[in-house]
Amino acid sequence: PNSVLNPPNIYLVGLMGAGKTTVARALSRRIGYRCVDSDHEIEARTGVSIPTIFEIEGEAGFRRREALVIAELTREHGLVVATGGGAVLLPENRERLRTGGFVVYLRVPPRVLHERTRQDRNRPLLRVADPLARLETLFAERDPLYREVADLIVDGGRGNAQSITQLLAREA
Ligand code: S3P
Repeated sequence: PNSVLNPPNIYLVGLMGAGKTTVARALSRRIGYRCVDSDHEIEARTGVSIPTIFEIEGEAGFRRREALVIAELTREHGLVVATGGGAVLLPENRERLRTGGFVVYLRVPPRVLHERTRQDRNRPLLRVADPLARLETLFAERDPLYREVADLIVDGGRGNAQSITQLLAREA
């Protein structure tokens, strides 16, 4: 069974703008794990950006690619993985995350996520007339799913990435 001490991998989950990538980078350096970002992994494999994949293959096509990457990463060891915000949508992904290591939910209220993602063009789901309303809907839908897989829930809305990383490094 997985332990809080030296888990095979650490997965960061949460909505867009929660700080998964920033915290994953800092945490991986501190504990000597390798940092992987599942979106970057998908972009590296396809050679195109996430918005382009959404345009050509739709969200369903993107989710298939995401599931493949998650399946592969959960077979590895010594990783801190920043997952995409929708990684918890498929039950098979949730099962893999739950059994594949220690899962941290960076929980951030929609209002703060909105502030952080305002200037961002790289998130197709937020390219809508009212991104705050979209984030509120996504929060309502996904908060229970993040909670379902999480070993630890961290308030990611206040402290900076540095303090969150310190906290997690003690935990790991
Ligand atoms: C998505 C989040 C994005 C990316 C894609 C879909 C989502 O990742 O995977 O745009 O469904 O929430 P980040 O959470 O890293 O922005």
